[in-house]
Amino acid sequence: MYSTLRKALFALDPERAHHLSLDAIGAAERLGMMSLIKRPIAHDPVELMGLTLPNPVGLAAGLDKNAQAFNGLGALGFGFVEVGTVTPRPQPGNPLPRLFRVEEADAIINRMGFNNLGVDYLIQRVKHRRYKGVLGINVGKNFDTPVEKAADDYCLCMEKVYRYADYITANVSSPNTKGLRDLQFGDSLNRLLGNIKDKQMELAQKSDRYVPVAVKIAPDMESDAVAQIAEALFEYSIDGVIATNTTIDKSSVSGLPHGNEEGGLSGKPLQERSTQVVAQLSKALDKQIPIIGVGGIFDGDSAVDKIRAGATAVQVYTGFIYRGPELIREAAESIALERRRMESNKK
Ligand SMILES: Cc1cc2nc3c(=O)[nH]c(=O)nc-3n(C[C@H](O)[C@H](O)[C@H](O)COP(=O)(O)O)c2cc1C
Repeated sequence: MYSTLRKALFALDPERAHHLSLDAIGAAERLGMMSLIKRPIAHDPVELMGLTLPNPVGLAAGLDKNAQAFNGLGALGFGFVEVGTVTPRPQPGNPLPRLFRVEEADAIINRMGFNNLGVDYLIQRVKHRRYKGVLGINVGKNFDTPVEKAADDYCLCMEKVYRYADYITANVSSPNTKGLRDLQFGDSLNRLLGNIKDKQMELAQKSDRYVPVAVKIAPDMESDAVAQIAEALFEYSIDGVIATNTTIDKSSVSGLPHGNEEGGLSGKPLQERSTQVVAQLSKALDKQIPIIGVGGIFDGDSAVDKIRAGATAVQVYTGFIYRGPELIREAAESIALERRRMESNKK
């Protein structure tokens, strides 16, 4: 069924198709129609950052930036849903067009630039949630906030979303906000993580509720830099890490239609690289800090690859656009089988 719908959606401009799909999912949920679309998903509970997921397949950030359709998306059977990236103030993002399908490579290039309606709008959306599953809220900085002041933006967003989030993600890895990725290195990283941890502890004390914080990183890093990030995650007691965001390496799609667009590349061409980063992190973190693996998951096998590399859970974005809700079922089922196999090997 999704292949017919996909044909119709792919005939439209990608951003228009995106808005139409989110509106349709939102409307279907409000009308109580999600049970007609949802397929049974393997019940495979997983512990992640102190939270219990019904299955380890989540929706990655960026698809529902303003939390407009998360009730419906959650009802499709995702084990967790991440909304955002949201910034303190609303911002329009980059000029259109800024979203491109690279169909020949099962990929997307985007340079959205954190278009979002701001954190106050998002809070209004999540305040009265019907989705009972695990909700992550992904936060970032406004495009015009200097990198030296970035921590203020992250902390302000944390303060506002804290009571509504099951976990918070600090996104330091989108390639479309100038200077953002600098926050992944050296003193900038330490300063940011220090500020985030202090804010988290302050909010936990005030509210008597501990909300875990994850950091989302890029795939375009040397192994030294990945090792340094792992060290910083330990030093600042960060609860989890999401690997990875989109890549700026577009050599694999250069020459294909839309393959030379500016922006971050996601989907199949990112699959192997993001799995490598998961494996590098896994070695350095030694299971003490959980990893959420994301990048190029298109089927059960590619989802299992992330788990074998050391991820506790996975997220999907581009694969979900190309394959539809069937991907959730397939990935969850394959991971459940793999986890059972790993368990029985331990015995
Ligand atoms: C159109 C688009 C917008 C995205 N926006 C965000 C975002 O706002 N915040 C974020 O952390 N990641 C964002 N991402 C990255 C995805 O969450 C994910 O990390 C990346 O696409 C790799 O996964 P995939 O290959 O399954 O798509 C975006 C990805 C796409 C394709």
